[in-house]
Amino acid sequence: MKIFLVDEKGVEHRLDAIEGWRVMEIVRDHGFGIIAECGGACACGTCQVEIEPEWLDRLHPARDDEQDQLDDNYAGPNERLSCQLIFTPELDGLRLRLSRVSLEKAA
Ligand code: FES
Repeated sequence: MKIFLVDEKGVEHRLDAIEGWRVMEIVRDHGFGIIAECGGACACGTCQVEIEPEWLDRLHPARDDEQDQLDDNYAGPNERLSCQLIFTPELDGLRLRLSRVSLEKAA
């Protein structure tokens, strides 16, 4: 299974994905710029990603605490916290890019 990640230069990368892992863990462990300061506790916003529009409906809706964090970071409509997305076989082929917020916080 895989995730496709577009980096800050616009280059797409195919990442091996493991069922049950957080999308944040998959991206971070492949060496891309996600700090995940809070370790996935939905408290920092440094794992924010932009989901390709065709995948948005396949994700569960953001819970209130995730939405609050997204609102605090002025997230766009396609943005989610990757620590709140658990990878399942239904997400095989998920496409996303690092968000402005996570890139700024990683700089
Ligand atoms: S890792 Fe902190 S909000 Fe996702």
